Amino acid sequence: MRVQVAIIGSGPSGLLLGQLLTNAGIDNVILDRVDRDYILGRIRAGVLESGTTRLLDEAGAGARMHAEGLIHDGFSLSFSGRRHRIDLKRLTGQSVTVYGQTELTHDLMDRREATGGKAIYNARNVTPHDFGGAPYVTYEKDGVTHRIDCDFIAGCDGAHGASRAAVADKGMKAFERVYPFGWLGVLADVPPVDHELIYANHIRGFALCSQRSLSRSRYYVQVGLEEKVENWSDDAFWDELRRRLPDDVAQALVTGQSLEKSIAPLRSFVAEPLRYGSLFLVGDAGHVVPPTGAKGLNLAASDVHYLFEGLRDFYLDKTDAALDAYSSRALARIWKAVRFSWSMTQLLHRFPDSGDFGQRIQEAELDYLTTSHAAQEAMAENYVGLPY
Ligand code: APR
Ligand code: PHB
Repeated sequence: MRVQVAIIGSGPSGLLLGQLLTNAGIDNVILDRVDRDYILGRIRAGVLESGTTRLLDEAGAGARMHAEGLIHDGFSLSFSGRRHRIDLKRLTGQSVTVYGQTELTHDLMDRREATGGKAIYNARNVTPHDFGGAPYVTYEKDGVTHRIDCDFIAGCDGAHGASRAAVADKGMKAFERVYPFGWLGVLADVPPVDHELIYANHIRGFALCSQRSLSRSRYYVQVGLEEKVENWSDDAFWDELRRRLPDDVAQALVTGQSLEKSIAPLRSFVAEPLRYGSLFLVGDAGHVVPPTGAKGLNLAASDVHYLFEGLRDFYLDKTDAALDAYSSRALARIWKAVRFSWSMTQLLHRFPDSGDFGQRIQEAELDYLTTSHAAQEAMAENYVGLPY
């Protein structure tokens, strides 16, 4: 097979890039090591910046998101038994859309199928080759090795994929921070406790009340890295969540059986640069952020925007400038989101070594946020997403 762009990974990054390329008449194939259902079984965050919704529309996959997504004009911070609302709309003129990553992925997969895009699932041992020269990708399927020749390879295969591994000894510099805790998350078919999200700073640890729809909720509590999900019954989870919320919220909480329960460790990671000859790192392959602030999917979208502009200009206008600028343009936005996710994590979690002093510093910062328009504006501007 020969294509213009070989895309490794059928997550949001690969699917979004693939659809924008297809719409522009640029030939591409998507390869993934697992199948559609496996990918759609993953539960991830669900807050979309307006740039992400715009790109989904541009891809032609935004209809269901507009019909079913929930527009949120603000969110709350809770601490010291009180609550403060960050009015995103008033502070920035913008809102965010609550729509699960799983649904967005589903819509992009459907769109790809409807437009006849090439996709190869269950492709084993996908490997990018010769990206300093004449690039190609190999993979195995049903015991046969296949080869795809291409002009460019888009590494959209996440943090543990083949793309990042292939450039790790090609001058890649890794920047990393590992946090000493994880998030225990529960998905349940119960109405959300509030019409907006609540991020809670509590002496027992962070908690988050999020949602996927008016009848499906997503809740999280901060847990130690040694915690095992099988040791958390649903009741234990709900009890712990209630303890970390203001009384009125805790009393209003509707609980039910969990549909999914998992623990995710928190870390920040950035690879530099994002381009290695004709191989580009995109989305989680290039960077990971802690979920505080829900930037992961949105950063994947802005990467796709920059790379798509580069590829479109290359093929349609025969100019290299935007492609050459991909790594630096994407990284400039990535680092700002990495900083924001890190600062939200810092502000809201209980750190094992920071003690009572650390708790008071957090409370002072939160108190400052409630009284300073400038501080609220800075938080809101980052939360709705920096422009691109
Ligand atoms: N070969 C082929 N495919 C692979 C390989 C591999 N070696 N390794 C991983 N993949 C596939 C995975 O099966 C997955 O479908 O690449 C895809 C990567 O998708 P994501 O991990 O969702 O990454 P991305 O598309 O960049 O989306 C970023 O996902 O992790 C969240 O917070 C993150 O929301 C953000 C979004
Ligand atoms: C989620 O709904 O899963 C979610 C929402 C907001 C976050 C993180 C996760 O900051």
